[in-house]
Amino acid sequence: MSIYPTPILTTDRLTLRPLTPDDAADLYAVFSDPAVVRYWSTDPWTSMASAETAIGHALEAYREGSDVRFGVELAESGVLIGTVNLHHFFGQNRRCEIGYALGSAWWGKGYATEGLSAALDYGFHELRLNRVEADIDPRNDASATVLERLGFRKEGYMPERWFVHGQMADTVNYGLLKRYWDERR
Ligand SMILES: CC(C)(COP(=O)(O)OP(=O)(O)OC[C@H]1O[C@@H](n2cnc3c(N)ncnc32)[C@H](O)[C@@H]1OP(=O)(O)O)[C@@H](O)C(=O)NCCC(=O)NCCS
Repeated sequence: MSIYPTPILTTDRLTLRPLTPDDAADLYAVFSDPAVVRYWSTDPWTSMASAETAIGHALEAYREGSDVRFGVELAESGVLIGTVNLHHFFGQNRRCEIGYALGSAWWGKGYATEGLSAALDYGFHELRLNRVEADIDPRNDASATVLERLGFRKEGYMPERWFVHGQMADTVNYGLLKRYWDERR
């Protein structure tokens, strides 16, 4: 399996495209919000340096072809509202993981469903993945709703897998196979 450089994908309302150093302020606005990282094992960002570091890691991933990291931009305004990443590729077995976050001002408008659909289409059809996995906090209802709407199936449960803001947190494992994806399209 080859991982091509992160491409530009377009949907009705969104552009998914590689991050650039100019995205630092928009990215900071997303990840400095405690609501966005409520179920993550990392704290909200408190300085722009965190955004610059994250973009540096993305640029490195683009150079190495290790991950596919999209910035999610509103097509109409050009505002960067979040990220969608395909990561932890296991080429031999044609699988990877998916991660995503949107700024809270843009939740509940179907943008996550729309952006993830484009990334999954790319993963299954261009990267020839057979399986995409997601690992979510069982309290994260919005994330579960999006995954289940996209056809992911609940496959497992791992207790106390993460340390999230001072307490151990469980994982629900979700998986989506290419054949399930194609059947639904
Ligand atoms: C997960 C996330 C991307 C979902 O974004 P979103 O904009 O709400 O997604 P969509 O609008 O595409 O779809 C959300 C669906 O979930 C539902 N939903 C939203 N919040 C919900 C909640 N708290 N409980 C139950 N359902 C919820 C919405 O109603 C919508 O369904 P509907 O349109 O049928 O009503 C967003 O909540 C987020 O960025 N969270 C912070 C980061 C994060 O937790 N990422 C996932 C880590 S695994």
